[in-house]
Order: sequence, then structure tokens, then C-alpha cells
Amino acid sequence: MQAKITAIGSYVPEQEIGNEFFESIIETSDEWIQSRTGIKTRRFAGEEEYTSHLCLHAVKDLEDRYGISIANVDFIIVATVTPDQAMPSVASQLQDKLGLKAAGAIDISAACAGFAYGVILAQGLICAGTHKKILVFGAETLSKVTNYEDRTTCILFGDGAGVVLVEAAEKGNILAAVTGSQGDGGKDLYMSNSRRQINGQDVITDNKIHQNGRAVFKWAVNTVSEKMVELTKKAGLSLEELTWFIPHSANMRIIEALCNQTGFPIEKTLESITLYGNTSSASIPLALHRGIKEGKVHSGDRILLIGFGGGLVFAGLVIEWP
Ligand code: UT7
Repeated sequence: MQAKITAIGSYVPEQEIGNEFFESIIETSDEWIQSRTGIKTRRFAGEEEYTSHLCLHAVKDLEDRYGISIANVDFIIVATVTPDQAMPSVASQLQDKLGLKAAGAIDISAACAGFAYGVILAQGLICAGTHKKILVFGAETLSKVTNYEDRTTCILFGDGAGVVLVEAAEKGNILAAVTGSQGDGGKDLYMSNSRRQINGQDVITDNKIHQNGRAVFKWAVNTVSEKMVELTKKAGLSLEELTWFIPHSANMRIIEALCNQTGFPIEKTLESITLYGNTSSASIPLALHRGIKEGKVHSGDRILLIGFGGGLVFAGLVIEWP
């Protein structure tokens, strides 16, 4: 048996936050935010709206759009660094709320690479023959772990959720995958609430996101451009044969730099940064779904997606859209 992505759904909270919001709380400007990141707006979850709520909306969207039932899903994977709680997992809460009596459930922590990691794990379970129908979510409420006094990070983040259904099929549509980590960069992007050191260096333990933006920017461009070429080759394709490239939407300037470095046309990229900001694990499914809703992505399109972020960690896939 092979693994096939067959459907997608997504959701963003209603509350839209423009750049002017930040002009009122820190020293910044709409001009700086747009020119340095590409972000125009982002969405924030309500006070009593958590990651599990966004996931439930996203899966409802999937069911409605495809007219299918998820009743016989046998495993749930939620990639998130902003679970409602550390324990129970978001996935277990979804198992209950969705009434999936026979489903296994786990949350995974791989920051902005989480969605790609989730699909790779789902593929493994299906190919091992132990599971047949898996929901993979990338979902975050980063607005709840943002330090609004830190102007270098608070303007970046937004909330949202995306989900795909991965099913057992005679012929799958996941053509290649790549994973990796560079743990010595952990101190450059972290959120800690207990241990006071990472990589032997002191860190802040306020359970908020902290980032050395320049270091992560550089690492992302170098790593992702190299892995993009490696992954395309692994899929037996050339860059020209890819229909779409979906890098994690961390910053529009990273997407531009990746295209410059690899010679890939920027018109063939899909992003969620301009409307939703950096939504970590949700950013790739949000960008993909946006591309589908806008009529850009068609059946048979070959899509390379790659996530990168806190860990430091990365994971990528080449898929053929069903
Ligand atoms: O999602 C996980 C992976 N994350 C990433 O990939 C993020 C990678 N990094 C980035 O996207 C960018 O580094 C940032 C958007 C975070 C920052 O952009 P930058 O172009 O690297 O800015 P910088 O940190 O080099 O700062 C340039 C200047 C500084 O002023 P000085 O020192 O040159 O006087 C900052 O203090 O911009 C200043 N600055 C701001 N000014 C206005 C930093 N934040 C702001 C702000 N408004 N919000």
C-alpha cells in the first residue's frame, strides 16, 4: 500500500489584525513590516479560542468541501507548538470531539516543519500497513505565546490551521521526502518555560517565542535552497518540472531569496505570509489551500513544499496533487 493525500481543509480565526495595531503598541511602521516581511495582516484567535478549536473548523471545512465523512479515520496527527495544553494532546481532544472511537492520536513538535513531518509520519504508518486513513493537522495559536514588547518578533506571527487527509491507495502521490535537523541552532529560535539554558547558553523562560531573526534567516535560505534541489532530484524531477514551490511562509524576503538562489520563478510559489503572517506549522497547508481556492493548483500538479524553523529543523516533500 502507498500513501495518498486526498483532501485538504483550512481555517483562520475571524479577528483580522492589521499592521497599524503594532504601530500603536511598539515603535514600528506598516512600511517597515511590509517591506521587511511582506506581511499585510494576520489573524488572532479569540481569548477562549484555542488550537483544538481551529482544528475542528479546518476539518469541518475539509468535509464540507469534499462532501466526505471522516468517520473511519484511524489516526490523528497534530503538528503544533501551541497546543491547548501540553497534556492532554490536541489530537486526543480531537479524537473525542470528532467521535473517532478507534483512532490513535499524537501531537508532534517540529515547529514550522511540523506539517511536512506529520505527512511523512502518516505515510510511514500507511506503508507499514498499520493504518489506512489519517488526518494530519498543522495548527497554531501563536498570538498566545507572542511577546508584544519585542518588536523583532511580535509583528510576525498569526493563528490558523490546515488539515489533509492521507489515505492508503494502490498508487500514492508522495514522490519524495527529506528531513533534517541542526540542533546547535536551538538557541536561535525557542520558547522555554522550564530549563534556563539551550546549547549551553542562558535563555529566557517566559513561555514566549524568542528569535535571532538574522541567524535563522541565513540558515533558512542556505539550507532550504540546498534541500530544495536535493528533494527535487530524489523525486526524479528537475526544478522546471515542479508546478509549485511552497516554502514555509516565514518572510516574503526568504521566499524571494530562495528563488534567487535556485533560479526558481517566484510566480510559481504559493504563500500565506501576506494575509496570515507566520503561522508556523499551519503556513504550508494554508498556502496550498489558498492556491487551490484561487484556482491555481490543479490535479496532477507537482508541488514541492518545505518547512523550516525552531529546532532548528526542516522537512520537505514533493507531492502530486490528486
Ligand atoms: O518561522 C520560523 C523561521 N523563522 C524565520 O525564518 C525568520 C527569519 N528572520 C526574519 O524573517 C527576519 O530576520 C526578521 C523579519 C525577523 C527581521 O528582519 P531583518 O531584516 O533581519 O531585520 P534585523 O533584525 O536585521 O533588523 C534591522 C533593523 C534593526 O535596527 P538597526 O539595528 O539596524 O538600527 C532593528 O532594530 O530593523 C529594526 N527592527 C524594526 N524596526 C521597525 C526590528 N524590528 C523592527 C520593527 N519595526 N518591528
